[in-house]
Amino acid sequence: MIEVLSVASEAYPLVKTGGLADVAGALPGALAHHGVTMRTLIPGYPAVLREAISGRVIYEFNDLFGAWARLIAGRFAGLDLIVLDASHLYDRPGNPYLTPDGRDWGDNWIRFAALSWVAGKLANGLVPGYAPQIVHAHDWQAGLAPAYVKYGPSDQVKTVITVHNMVFQGHFGADIFGRLDLPPHAYWESLEYYGGVGYLKAGLVTADAITTVSPTYAKEIRTPQFGAGLEGLVNARAGSVYGITNGIDVEAWNPATDPELPQSYSANTLQRRAVNKAAIRERFGIEATDGPMFSVVSRLTSQKGIDLIASNVDWLVSLGATLMILGSGDGQLEAELQTAAARYPGRVAMHRGYDERLSHLIQGGADAILIPSRFEPCGLTQLYGLRYGCVPVVARVGGLADTVIDANEAAVDAGVATGLQFSPVTSEALGEAIQRAVELFRDQKVWRKMQRRGMRHDVSWDASAKRYADLYASLLGQERDDHDRD
Ligand code: ADP
Ligand code: GLC
Repeated sequence: MIEVLSVASEAYPLVKTGGLADVAGALPGALAHHGVTMRTLIPGYPAVLREAISGRVIYEFNDLFGAWARLIAGRFAGLDLIVLDASHLYDRPGNPYLTPDGRDWGDNWIRFAALSWVAGKLANGLVPGYAPQIVHAHDWQAGLAPAYVKYGPSDQVKTVITVHNMVFQGHFGADIFGRLDLPPHAYWESLEYYGGVGYLKAGLVTADAITTVSPTYAKEIRTPQFGAGLEGLVNARAGSVYGITNGIDVEAWNPATDPELPQSYSANTLQRRAVNKAAIRERFGIEATDGPMFSVVSRLTSQKGIDLIASNVDWLVSLGATLMILGSGDGQLEAELQTAAARYPGRVAMHRGYDERLSHLIQGGADAILIPSRFEPCGLTQLYGLRYGCVPVVARVGGLADTVIDANEAAVDAGVATGLQFSPVTSEALGEAIQRAVELFRDQKVWRKMQRRGMRHDVSWDASAKRYADLYASLLGQERDDHDRD
């Protein structure tokens, strides 16, 4: 067994703002089948502590970056967690990163330095009997963890950083460096970033391996368009960069057993989805038309190309389709979509907010899901769409390019299409893709075939978990057993 400490700022089902939580929540279970024990170090936000309060205290700090704190270990909500209970850092309502009025917490640099510092200590034997061999950090919030390991006493522990989104970098002023408890030479060697301190940059420099969440994104981040200023560094480390596509939790996302669906179904009983579609229609006042019901389940941000959806609403409605939107985020994008919905009562509906249960119903009832992202490291909603027969219509970028097979003529003839791709990521190209989807939907035989094909596509974690397990083993210089090989 390989013992891995995962360091993540969110994990489903305890705290989630996006796909990172889904990954951090599902990967440990998947790795268990590949000879890896993964425990997750996570901040003790209120929602986490509510579960963890009954756990075992394994360590107490008299002064962790300013106040008393402790570590609580146990199995909570199906996850093996080490919870960092530090009320001065994490006992705050709502979103893990933002104040109630939507700004970054001013002390995020301490909140996430502390998380990574603790990971470094755990790697160096803080708790007797617990000896992780690998520290696996996720995103900038855990970016300093590989640095704390590297500048700590042990050179046995190996580190991996996974980039879920290159744009979020944890960039702070140089003045904080003195409070990070790292040796002075670490600044120029690893942390310095455009005159300040870069947490993600530090992780990319110091980790033994860098992974990102799809092969295409692993290539894209080597270019200025997607590298967000870090492309030079990624290129310099190209031999240590791996693109491993995310999977999804196929138990939690299973249309045959999903408790959120009024009607369960499988690839062989697709006609039953109509009951779920009717449930969406009824709940949100959407009329029955001959066209497909498109959907959106997304953070409403420019990354996700939501403005392109707003500019296609008139077109989509003119083609006889309907649209169900679930999302929240950027105020202006929310307002644009709400205005569009108000313009077309009965044709376009919007539920503003974050609603995990409704996201299942939409995937289980809508005909297609629109994902016109400008960049998408992996994307999970297209994977849920495939699994649920909610045909993904996606921009050809990042993980979207890697996971959806476009319904061009050859692919339709060969019966291998699972969705629609478009490029470039413009309003016009999205409009054409919407039109293509409407036309394909007219031939229900072809559409059903595409749904079925998607539902049979392997979106589980299995293959990717094995790749992570192989990567850990190779970092540790271990040979894997034959049954673990390709
Ligand atoms: P990202 O992490 O960039 O937001 P992903 O596609 O990787 O994109 O993951 C998004 C996750 O968040 C998915 O599980 C998706 O279903 C979920 N999600 C996004 N917006 C909402 C929402 N408004 N309500 C419920 N779930 C949402
Ligand atoms: C990020 C990316 C998304 C990816 C998710 C999980 O939020 O934006 O594309 O699926 O992380 O890796």
